[in-house]
Amino acid sequence: MADHRDAIPMLARWHQDEWASRTPHLNLGDRIARLENLVGRHQIPSTFVALVEDRPAGFACLVAHDMETRRYPSPWLASVLVAPPYRGRGIGSALSEWVAEEARDLGANDLFLYTFNKEAYYTRLGWKVLARTDYLGASVAVMVRHLAGHLPYLNSYRVPSMRGFGGGPPPGEPS
Ligand SMILES: CC(C)(COP(=O)(O)OP(=O)(O)OC[C@H]1O[C@@H](n2cnc3c(N)ncnc32)[C@H](O)[C@@H]1OP(=O)(O)O)[C@@H](O)C(=O)NCCC(=O)NCCS
Repeated sequence: MADHRDAIPMLARWHQDEWASRTPHLNLGDRIARLENLVGRHQIPSTFVALVEDRPAGFACLVAHDMETRRYPSPWLASVLVAPPYRGRGIGSALSEWVAEEARDLGANDLFLYTFNKEAYYTRLGWKVLARTDYLGASVAVMVRHLAGHLPYLNSYRVPSMRGFGGGPPPGEPS
């Protein structure tokens, strides 16, 4: 987010709109503060933003832990969110792959996430269910993505114009 800190309030608003019902204990200011703590380059944590025609269209975070219970290893893919007008163009998949590639570059062998209702979506992207548990008052799937070797979806979900808050350009693109 070093390059686009001014977008943080808008991204936090998207986060609030999407997940306020899951995390009602967080207000908009809390979400802004949390995102401001996820600024970084080539490190954990960092946050990646997809740009379409130079405007933020979605974002995703690479964090050390995303479940406060911390029963699972690190790192985690968190807060994958594409603004509604931009959905269905491969942006969410590209963001997920971008974070996976960054985690692998940073030495991780596995990447984790939890999801309330997107298990089928991530299964399509090569993620496996590791466990099912209750979290934030609902059932979630904890999923893992093995990072060793080739990331098969990386090239097929490339978004034409993506620049990152956290990790620079997507893998393989010039900065
Ligand atoms: C989930 C989300 C990130 C996907 O972003 P996106 O940019 O629309 O996704 P993509 O374009 O990469 O992929 C779309 C494909 O996934 C499919 N898909 C979307 N949601 C799905 C689901 N719940 N289960 C299975 N497939 C799903 C779409 O049908 C589409 O399929 P197609 O390519 O055959 O047409 C986006 O819908 C979003 O922000 N949702 C709200 C926040 C959220 O739930 N985030 C995930 C947190 S775990």
